[in-house]
Amino acid sequence: MVHKRLLSLLTVVVFVGWGSALAQVRESPTSVTFEKALHFLSPEDTDEQIVPGTYEVEAAGVDSLWLFPSEVSAPHLIQAIPTTHEEPLEEPVVVMFSEGEDSHRLVLLLPDGKGLEVSGSSSGIRSKRAVTRPTINPKERTSQIRSQLKVITQNLNQPRVAMTKKLFMEMEQLELVKLWRYSPRYSQLTDTLEKLQGLFDQRDSKWYIPIWDVDMDSYFYFEWKRNFTSTGTTRDGSMSRKDQAELLAPYSHVRLRINGKWVSPIPGLHRKAGGGLFMAPLLVINPSHSNAIPLPWNVKLFVTTQSGKTLVSPTTKIVVKYVNSWFERTLAPIFRHDRCISCHSVGDHQAIVKYHNDRGFDLKAAWISAYPIEPQTPQGCAICHHPFSRDWRSPKFIQGLNWTKLTTPKEICEKITGPFTDKNGNVGPPLDLHHHFHNDDRIIWAVSNGGVPRERPKKPVLFPEDKESFLGTIDTWLASGKPCPKTAAMDFQ
Ligand code: HEC
Ligand code: HEC
Repeated sequence: MVHKRLLSLLTVVVFVGWGSALAQVRESPTSVTFEKALHFLSPEDTDEQIVPGTYEVEAAGVDSLWLFPSEVSAPHLIQAIPTTHEEPLEEPVVVMFSEGEDSHRLVLLLPDGKGLEVSGSSSGIRSKRAVTRPTINPKERTSQIRSQLKVITQNLNQPRVAMTKKLFMEMEQLELVKLWRYSPRYSQLTDTLEKLQGLFDQRDSKWYIPIWDVDMDSYFYFEWKRNFTSTGTTRDGSMSRKDQAELLAPYSHVRLRINGKWVSPIPGLHRKAGGGLFMAPLLVINPSHSNAIPLPWNVKLFVTTQSGKTLVSPTTKIVVKYVNSWFERTLAPIFRHDRCISCHSVGDHQAIVKYHNDRGFDLKAAWISAYPIEPQTPQGCAICHHPFSRDWRSPKFIQGLNWTKLTTPKEICEKITGPFTDKNGNVGPPLDLHHHFHNDDRIIWAVSNGGVPRERPKKPVLFPEDKESFLGTIDTWLASGKPCPKTAAMDFQ
C-alpha cells in the first residue's frame, strides 16, 4: 500500500529511514508518491498542480516528463531540464530529494547516464524555471542518489526483468519537418489561395508562420518525420527484421498537444512511409473565440505504437512571422477600383460636369431636371442613371470620401471605420458598415453591374453578376472587427 506520510518523512530524515520508507511502498522503480499537493511548471510555463497520490514517471522527450496518476485521470506534463548521472542502470529509476520545507526535486535517471530533473514546491511560490538552483553539492547529491538506489533495487518486490535498454535519443522520435497553411478565402480576386509557409529558424529554434488579421479558423498542415534509431543491422548492412517490423507497426494513438490543450489531429491524419505523420487539424487562432489557441504555440506530439512504444516530439515552438492585413491585401484593391472612385471623386458641380465631358458626354446640354447638377441630389441624376440605382448620387467633397486623395489603405480604412461626415458636414458616429455594404445599391452596382446610361457599353467590374463573392470578402473582415492596416507602407496609386 502507499505510504501516506512519505513527504513529511522526506523532509525530516533524508539519510536514515527515508529510503526504506520509500522502498516498501514502491510499485515500480519509476513511481513516486506525493503526500501534499505540489506545484510544477508545465511546458507552457504555467502552473501545473499535482494532487497528492502515486504517480508513474515517464520521460516525454528531452525537455519534459509525464506524471501518470494511478487513478484514471489525465496525466500531467511537466517541464524538465536534462541532467546527467554516473549510475550504471538497466532501466529508468526515479529518485527524490526534499530541499527545505517547500521545495522537492525529482530526478528521472535513465540507463545511459542521462536523466530529467524537475523541482516542485508545495506553496506554489517558485521561480519561472523548471528547476531551481540546487541546494546540495554534487557529491552529496551523488551519495543521496546512491543510497536511494540501493534501497530501491533491494526492495522491489517484483523480480527484476531487464527491460530493453531505452536510449535517451530514442525518446525523440518525431520531428516537425514541414508546416504550412493557406490564406483565408479571397473570393474572386485570385483563384488560388496563397500558401503560407512556416519556416524554421535555427538561430532561436522556432517555427515562424504568417497569419491574417481576419483569421478565424484554419487548417494547419503538419508533417512529422520519425527519427528511427535502429537497434542493429544485419550482416549485409540492411535493416534488421525486428526494426522493419517496428517501423511497420501501426500507430494506435496519436495525440497532439498545443499550449496545454489536446487538439484533434483529425481530419487529414495519415501515416507516411518511414513512420512519419501528416495531419491537418482545424485550429482557431483568433483570441476573441472561446476555443481559440492564439499563437505563439508550444506543440508536442505523442504517438503510441501497437508494439507498445511511445514516440514523442520535442516541444516545438511556433510563433507569428507577420500579420497580413485583410483590408490592405483584399479590400483596398476593391475600394480603389475605377467603379468606386468614379463616383467618390465627383464631389461638386464642376467635377460632375467635367467627368461626363471627359467621357464625351455633355451633361449640361443634356440636363433636363429642375434640380441643379450637384452631388447628393439624386433627383437630377435619376433621369439617366435610374435603371442602375434607385438612389444615384455622389458624395460631397466635404465628406472626405474621395479616395484618390486618401493614398494608403490605412487611411481609407480608418476613414470608413471612423466617424461619418454627412452631406451637411456634420460629424457623427461610424456607419453601420454591414448594412451599408449589403443594402446600398450603388455599391452593388459598382462591384457586380457597371451599366451606364445612353446605351453606352457596360464598364468593367470586379465581380460580374456576383455580389455574393464581394459580400463574402467584406463579411470576413466585418466579422473580425474591421481591422485596419497597422502601417501605411503600401501605396496604391
Ligand atoms: C454612384 C455613386 C457611388 C458609387 C459608385 C459608390 N459610392 Fe460609396 N458612397 C456614395 C455616396 C453618395 C456616399 C455617402 C453616403 C451618404 O452621405 O449618406 C458613399 C459612402 C460610402 C461609404 C461610407 C463612408 C463612411 O464614411 O462611412 C463607403 C464605405 C463607400 N461609399 C464604399 C464604396 C465602395 C467600396 C464602392 C465601390 C465598390 C462605392 N462606395 C461606390 C456614392 C457611391
Ligand atoms: C443626361 C444623362 C445623365 C445624367 C442626368 C447624369 N449622368 Fe452620369 N453618366 C451619364 C453617362 C452617359 C455616363 C457614361 C459615360 C461613359 O461612357 O463613360 C455617365 C457616367 C457617370 C459616372 C461614371 C460611372 C462609372 O463608374 O463609369 C458617374 C460617377 C456619374 N455619371 C455621376 C452622375 C451624377 C452624380 C449625376 C447627377 C448629379 C449624373 N451622373 C447625372 C449620363 C448622365
